Amino acid sequence: MSLKKLIAVATAAALAVSLAACSTGGGATTESEGSVGISMPTRSLERWINDGEGLKALLEDAGYQADLQYADDKSDMQISQIQNQIASGVDILVVAAIDGELLAPVLEDAAEQGITVIAYDRLINGTENVDYYATFDNYKVGQLQGQFIEEQLGLADGAGPFNLEPFAGSPDDNNARFFFAGAWDVLLPYVESGQLVVPSGKSPASNDDWASIGILGWKSDSAQAELDNRIASFYAGGEKIDVVLSPNDSLAQGIAASLSSAGYTPGVDWPILTGQDGDKASVVNILDGKQSMTVWKDTRVLGEVVFGFIEAILAGEEPEINDTETYNNGVKVVPSFLITPEVVVKDSVQEKLIDSGFLKASDVGL
Ligand code: GAL
Repeated sequence: MSLKKLIAVATAAALAVSLAACSTGGGATTESEGSVGISMPTRSLERWINDGEGLKALLEDAGYQADLQYADDKSDMQISQIQNQIASGVDILVVAAIDGELLAPVLEDAAEQGITVIAYDRLINGTENVDYYATFDNYKVGQLQGQFIEEQLGLADGAGPFNLEPFAGSPDDNNARFFFAGAWDVLLPYVESGQLVVPSGKSPASNDDWASIGILGWKSDSAQAELDNRIASFYAGGEKIDVVLSPNDSLAQGIAASLSSAGYTPGVDWPILTGQDGDKASVVNILDGKQSMTVWKDTRVLGEVVFGFIEAILAGEEPEINDTETYNNGVKVVPSFLITPEVVVKDSVQEKLIDSGFLKASDVGL
């Protein structure tokens, strides 16, 4: 479904529901009835600022009450913030979990209060008390990264060998396993054929081993230190890295800093470097030849989908769902809505990110 169509569908659904609410004899209401608690992981990663503020604005513009909290990547802080939102009497919780394994007890409390829980972007595991999940297709994110590498190197035509250094996301983030699986399902056959070589040896034998190359908290400086170490230990003899699999932009920014300090030069010997999120700093790097692509997830669309969920739930209706199979959280398969992400490269930054209004030209030095 195209971006424009998806926004139109989500908006039309929201409009239809609110008109229905008005036409039930309750008279036109400018103030929509409903209070939503929004729990975001951190402000330190650009996308979550867009996610939280975007959803809060959508809700408040529609007359709902919205409480937005950021938990500084600390699970205990996120739990206490959610507890406060429960105590304040919210009708719905929208949660982007820091650690999807730690929220079962507090969501038990939410369920006892009859609060509907929407998992936002990151699945919440180990509890029946998560009612819906709205996300981008996380496996597809990784698949797009793997396919980009496959195409750029001509691997399907037998090209190689190339030196690959793979990275994975934060071990506490359920999404990270899907990102890695999507990419590794494309790339592992080429590692096994010898077309891709991993000099550091940091080559998971299977998707299940993804966390062995995970970077906790998605921290740029941790990714930079990890690549510094691999270069010092395994590339001292003059070998060059040809490609780095980075699951998102914050890691790609740290990896780019490491490559620069190791003397790699864009347009000369800079490796293929993947990413995700369309962070401003990474778009600048893409324009400067220091990152090859990003998988763009338009957080505005995710916000519209969640807004549509909220309108439907408050109207006593079922939200629009398009996946009832993929996301088993260990207790149940959570009804989900998946949005398709898109690859952005240097030549499509203007059209996809600037012309769509996601970023301003001045954000990225254009
Ligand atoms: C993931 C999210 C990605 C990535 C990462 C860092 O869960 O889906 O967009 O940016 O977190 O926050």
